[in-house]
Amino acid sequence: MAATEPLPGTSDIWEPETLDWTILETTARDIFHRYGYSELRTPILERTDVFVHNLGETTDVVQKEMYTFQDRGNRSLTLRPEGTAGVIRAIANHGINQGDEVRTFYFGPMFRGERPAAGRRRQFHQVGVEAVGSDTPWMDAEVIAMLMHYLEAVGVKGGKLLLNSRGLPQDRPVVNQALQEYFRPHIGCMCEDCKNRLERNVSRILDCKNPDCQQIIAGAPLITDLFCDESKKYLAKVQLSLDRLGIPYEVAPRLVRGLDYYIHTVFEVEVTIPATEGQDAVTFAVAGGGRYQIVPAGSNKPVEGIGFAAGMERLLMVRAANGLKSIAPAEADVMIAALGEAAVPKGLQLAQQMRSMLGNLRVKADFSSRSLKAQMRTANKLGARYVLILGENELANQVVVLRDMTDSSQEEIPLAKIIEVLKSK
Ligand code: HAM
Repeated sequence: MAATEPLPGTSDIWEPETLDWTILETTARDIFHRYGYSELRTPILERTDVFVHNLGETTDVVQKEMYTFQDRGNRSLTLRPEGTAGVIRAIANHGINQGDEVRTFYFGPMFRGERPAAGRRRQFHQVGVEAVGSDTPWMDAEVIAMLMHYLEAVGVKGGKLLLNSRGLPQDRPVVNQALQEYFRPHIGCMCEDCKNRLERNVSRILDCKNPDCQQIIAGAPLITDLFCDESKKYLAKVQLSLDRLGIPYEVAPRLVRGLDYYIHTVFEVEVTIPATEGQDAVTFAVAGGGRYQIVPAGSNKPVEGIGFAAGMERLLMVRAANGLKSIAPAEADVMIAALGEAAVPKGLQLAQQMRSMLGNLRVKADFSSRSLKAQMRTANKLGARYVLILGENELANQVVVLRDMTDSSQEEIPLAKIIEVLKSK
């Protein structure tokens, strides 16, 4: 790897790509504001405890993927691997009264030490929402509706909404026992991860993608069949409200999601990008979320909420596959080619005047004092529509030559009139 390359799984993002990122961000603001959510920016760096405590010690994220280090004061700090834990910490810090609701959205970089692959990065970005303090299934349906609204608005079509439930905490012992009893006789033929999960976090076995394990998983009991009545009713209400909203979904009885804080509703939106020349087909979750119950570090009051996060790189991959990709605009609409020592400062001044008086025109001044030929080559490369040529003669006569790059026509314009002339064009 060259010393100038970014670290594996991270990238430099240049214009025009940044234009697509801006579309994802401004659309998020527009849509989430319409649902009454407000933006929250939490720090990228948090005390490690914020994540270990909230995401669950046995999750892959906490066990294998966090970027954790000791700072100079010997504190254990972590680059956030996801957004929910920080949002909950911030809300707990701000103070939330019993019965109050906080509805908030965020976007920004997240960090997970995963093996980089198509759609899997070490520094990736999420756009997410959290509705905290509400405990009704109608809120789950609205959050899912918001996600589908957002995906549609950013041109991510054809996603499959997968829905399941994790039930209530009191369902866990029953579910765990039934799953352990089912998997124990088969565990010898299952992968190392599944072996590790049997005693520590058995429901995560259901998520395993290993084909041999999948065959065994296919015969496992459905966790939703094992739930108490309250959990079953909750899921039925979420389904009913999605039906009312006309949002299609598929019940995915094996979907458990990788974080321990979930109760009741869990969901993902799965997208397949078809194979193209030199690129295999990929299927991934563009977004995932669910209802959670978290006791923030340093507190003894559980906080309940529902939210989702979408991976922005993945959203951009799907958009690009659908032909939605920004193209680079011309770097300059007008270039000022100044020739000679005296003309350069005048060119600088003229460019500044044009930027303030001609709205959103892109104006670039060439300060290199290179030959006219060399400066014209640059103007062509920039895609400039007009070049203003300002040499010593022009300066002496207080004029400027306006060259139209589309037909190479030129006219001499008094310096005092040039802004007016360009405005009329
Ligand atoms: P998550 O499923 O871990 O959930 O991540 C959400 C989304 O982030 C994924 O669906 C995927 O699009 C993207 N993502 C995750 N890891 C990577 C990666 N290594 N590279 C690229 N994209 C990735 C959460 O993070 C929860 N906090 C979501 C949530 C919010 N649940 C409730 N509220």
